[in-house]
Amino acid sequence: MSDKSFTLKDNGSGEEADLASYKGTLGPEVVDVRSLYGQQGIFTFDPGFASTASCESTITFIDGEEGILLYRGYPVEQLAQKSSFIEVCYLLLYGELPTQDELGKFENNIRRHTMINETMLRLFNGFHHDAHPMAMVSGVVGSMSAFYHETMDIQSARRREIFSHRIIAKLPTIAAAAYKHTLGQSFMYPRNDLDFASNLLHMFFAVPAEYYEIDPVAAEAIDLLLILHADHEQNCSTSTVRLAGSSGANPYSAIAAGIAALWGPAHGGANEAVLTMLKEIGSAKNIPEYVARAKDKDDSFRLMGFGHRVYKNFDPRAKIIRDMCHKVLAKLGDDNDPLFELALELEQVALQDDYFVEKQLYPNVDFYSGIIYRALGFRPSMFTVMFAIARSVGWVSHWQEMITDPAYRIARPRQLYVGPETRDYVDVTNR
Ligand code: ACO
Repeated sequence: MSDKSFTLKDNGSGEEADLASYKGTLGPEVVDVRSLYGQQGIFTFDPGFASTASCESTITFIDGEEGILLYRGYPVEQLAQKSSFIEVCYLLLYGELPTQDELGKFENNIRRHTMINETMLRLFNGFHHDAHPMAMVSGVVGSMSAFYHETMDIQSARRREIFSHRIIAKLPTIAAAAYKHTLGQSFMYPRNDLDFASNLLHMFFAVPAEYYEIDPVAAEAIDLLLILHADHEQNCSTSTVRLAGSSGANPYSAIAAGIAALWGPAHGGANEAVLTMLKEIGSAKNIPEYVARAKDKDDSFRLMGFGHRVYKNFDPRAKIIRDMCHKVLAKLGDDNDPLFELALELEQVALQDDYFVEKQLYPNVDFYSGIIYRALGFRPSMFTVMFAIARSVGWVSHWQEMITDPAYRIARPRQLYVGPETRDYVDVTNR
């Protein structure tokens, strides 16, 4: 609670409502409007929730003006440089960096959960070969609620922990199975002697007939991308997981709902959309035409990978990813990738354009991630799946936080109703 409070005055009747405010560890103060309906009989109106804090959270902090992203207080730049995805998973889930012993045990736990039920594998046969992998992954993750319904007691801390480990460990296996199904190749079982990123590359790119050598730069790039996408506070998919889970629903289904939300091009689908857009632009000479279209109010075209709801200065993840993009392209001998050249050119044009400067539209994390994934050999339809693998730890951490919060209630927003007033039913013969 802060020592400040706010008074909301009805200028017509002169009635006032006193509203408490709270100050978090970092970030702007929030006004508690929970008593507003009781005091004044009114709701707040905030479509898109741009001004609404939906919960208390200790997991991730973002300062969009300053370009700051902290996981449990640690700057993402430091984690990207010094940590690993598996350590970041522990940090997000348990709140602290692990000791050597804790890290070893956690890593082993995740490894022990990488395999999926053989029956689950057969579900993929029900999908057409060209089904979008996000559709397959959300469907199969949703099916986990059928595989683990009886044992999923959300009141049990141990059961919640096993759920978290299963999601983090099995999502790469499910994603790889979706990928192999798309290609018509044999599914590659996980290799528990490998680290998380290397195992992921093995399941995606190895084939039974040949020895597959894991490129250390590819594994490093994957691990970095996973760290950078691991959490992002109350974004669309995370809020979806919280909302779906708030009814007490089986959390595997809540994660499937989060995957569905992530798929949209305004959210995680943007990395795939960036590649599609760059291919459409085709060459640097066409950039002015597309930039003009992005600025035209009558044209729905937007520059994909630009702009962010929260970051209005720069996306700190984009800076880190840009450097990795160069490293990957240099190592994989594709430094002259015309799409990368085009992306850099587009970035420069947009950064100097008055429209983008005024509206504070900077390249976001997805502007570069798609190019890295492409260089690593992933098909564009898999880019958002990679995002989902990373974000799975954020989703389970937020779900855990919500379920264990004593103040948690079912999420149930209100509305501004603008439909017809009460009217009497008219018999079909008289309409
Ligand atoms: N290209 C052109 N104009 C844009 C763009 C863009 N990429 N993004 C925003 N604008 C303009 C809007 O037209 C609007 O203009 P107006 O004020 O004249 O109406 C203004 O900038 C503000 O845009 P909003 O859509 O109101 O901003 P919002 O915060 O709701 O949306 C979003 C943020 C969805 C990310 C948006 O910038 C966008 O669509 N970007 C492209 C898609 C993308 O890259 N998404 C990935 C986000 S990162 C992630 O999810 C990991």
